[in-house]
Amino acid sequence: MNALATFAPASFAPALLMDAEPVVNTAPLRRFVGDFAGLLDSTHDLDQILARGQALLAGLVAQDGWLPEEFAQPNPARYQQYLLHCDSAERFSVVSFVWGPGQATPIHDHRVWGLVGVLRGAEKVQSFHQRESDGSLVQQGPTRELLEAQVEAIDPREGDIHRVENAFADRTSISIHVYGGNIGAVARATFRPNGEERPFISGYANATLPNIWDLSRTA
Ligand SMILES: [Fe+2]
Repeated sequence: MNALATFAPASFAPALLMDAEPVVNTAPLRRFVGDFAGLLDSTHDLDQILARGQALLAGLVAQDGWLPEEFAQPNPARYQQYLLHCDSAERFSVVSFVWGPGQATPIHDHRVWGLVGVLRGAEKVQSFHQRESDGSLVQQGPTRELLEAQVEAIDPREGDIHRVENAFADRTSISIHVYGGNIGAVARATFRPNGEERPFISGYANATLPNIWDLSRTA
């Protein structure tokens, strides 16, 4: 077989093979990352970023059907954090968190701003602050339940230590998070209730990203 014969069918194969695979229309995610980049081009004001970003994320999680299955898979061992997009200047990243039944994070901080929107299911959020006297953690306000399509902001100016848990013991929940940096690479901390910090760099569960840029596949 000559090189051309080997090459030519392969170059046409993806379109033919992908007809047999479920194709998710990722256009809402593509539009979201474009809009979010535009927001960050337009302002450096954190209040503006959180308010307008919250509205953008609310629009994204108001509709389902755009998240490829690969990035919606729970893992029985622990919650999953899939990177969906990272801005080329690392000004923001978009992540799907997939919570198996009852799964929870450790208590942790962020050190950058964040937005959390629930795509499927619901999650419980506990916020904490550190006592100045001994650094131990105290829960700040009641445990909140974030329901499907709801969005909340993480504002480091007001404290950004929290613990998040799937509100359901019998089903998967998925939330979409946006952070003011490449969150999987940010050096931050997890905490014990006594306030003891442990260095934490979360990384991501996925090695490849969803292809949101192939306009031949989606509208
Ligand atoms: Fe968090």
